[in-house]
Amino acid sequence: MKPMGPIPPDFAGQTSLAIGGRDVEALIAKAGDTPAFVYDFSVVRSRVQRFRDAFGPEIGLHYAIKANPLPALIAAIAPLVDGLDVASAGELAKARDAMDADHISFAGPGKRDAELELAIREGVTINLESDGEASRAFAIGHGIGFTPRLAVRVNPDFELRGSGMKMGGRASPFGVEASQAAALVGRILSEGADWRGFHIFAGSQSLDNDAIIETHAATLALAERLADEAGASPSLVNLGGGFGIPYFVNDLQIDVACIGEALSHAVIRRPDSLSDSRFAIELGRWLVGESGVYLTRVVDRKISQGEVFVIVDGGLHHQLAASGNFGTVVRRNYPIAVASKLGESASETVNVVGCLCTPLDRLGDKVALPHAEVGDVIAVFLAGAYGRTASPEAFLGHPPSRELLIDPDDPA
Ligand SMILES: Cc1ncc(COP(=O)(O)O)c(C=O)c1O
Repeated sequence: MKPMGPIPPDFAGQTSLAIGGRDVEALIAKAGDTPAFVYDFSVVRSRVQRFRDAFGPEIGLHYAIKANPLPALIAAIAPLVDGLDVASAGELAKARDAMDADHISFAGPGKRDAELELAIREGVTINLESDGEASRAFAIGHGIGFTPRLAVRVNPDFELRGSGMKMGGRASPFGVEASQAAALVGRILSEGADWRGFHIFAGSQSLDNDAIIETHAATLALAERLADEAGASPSLVNLGGGFGIPYFVNDLQIDVACIGEALSHAVIRRPDSLSDSRFAIELGRWLVGESGVYLTRVVDRKISQGEVFVIVDGGLHHQLAASGNFGTVVRRNYPIAVASKLGESASETVNVVGCLCTPLDRLGDKVALPHAEVGDVIAVFLAGAYGRTASPEAFLGHPPSRELLIDPDDPA
């Protein structure tokens, strides 16, 4: 038997799984069929509130829509946050349906000319990833007679310790070197573009409170140094994010209140060169990850060489991360459950596998579960971020998953 991660506390005490207070079979009927992702927006709302309580009004909150770009979710979260971060023209179009361009930023390497032009025309802030990208943005802006809004994404000279995905302290396609950032600010100003500040993103999925606090302090110090070098004060310092959620056994929730307190102190004591700057944190996973459950139905059950295989109608083509093939080095089990037997003790050790013809398609590896029969629904938790759109849905031609956003606090 191999352990699983913790089932999110939002489901504590249930004997049969309900999401947002609603029975799973009723939700599946509403979604149309299995496999389906169900997202409970009240969980997202509570995370936003937790952030606001911890960070106060000084620190803005941006939602990185790459984590979950479902239009209904973007529309619901947009009024609660101060900005949306996008990574492509496709995401930009979705963000524009929900928010003013003024509050949208566009990060990511390899932006094509057409994407830069769209962002410049719309008035979206482009987080510049290189000098070459800056040159193209200037030329496009001149060509179409629009002033580009440009922030400098900096490849920080430190990493977010303990993060699942490090995006700093190393050679990187993201951002310009810290040593070259001030010079790029100089170019932006001399070109007459609208300089919107710095974007400094050091990593993703960290559960280490001290590391996050340390990274915030290092990010503020870097922004100060760059502002001094550039002789100009950034209007916004985007401090990145990287707040993780507990996916695996022994993972613990981060302490947002203590991270917020530390950052608030640091911001209050900030140097003169940042005295007029605003600050923001850009989060995806922590805001939406725990809101989602992937529901998939058992279609077969068999025994091979003494091991039980529970075979479901979904798999890694919808929920790649749970199979251990998205950003993890060692495969470990996400929390999963037999939906109708959530409160029951485990009675057998099984492999929960998807319907794809690859041994990689394993949602639960030797997990202890109550007996699951054909027709039962298996719930894979923590499916709100990097689920459907971070999975190879077209692989092998199975149907796409359904998606359903519910909001128990808003009966309408
Ligand atoms: C620029 C940028 N912003 C935000 C995020 C979201 O990170 P997370 O979902 O871990 O909060 C990422 C993730 O890779 C990113 O690259």
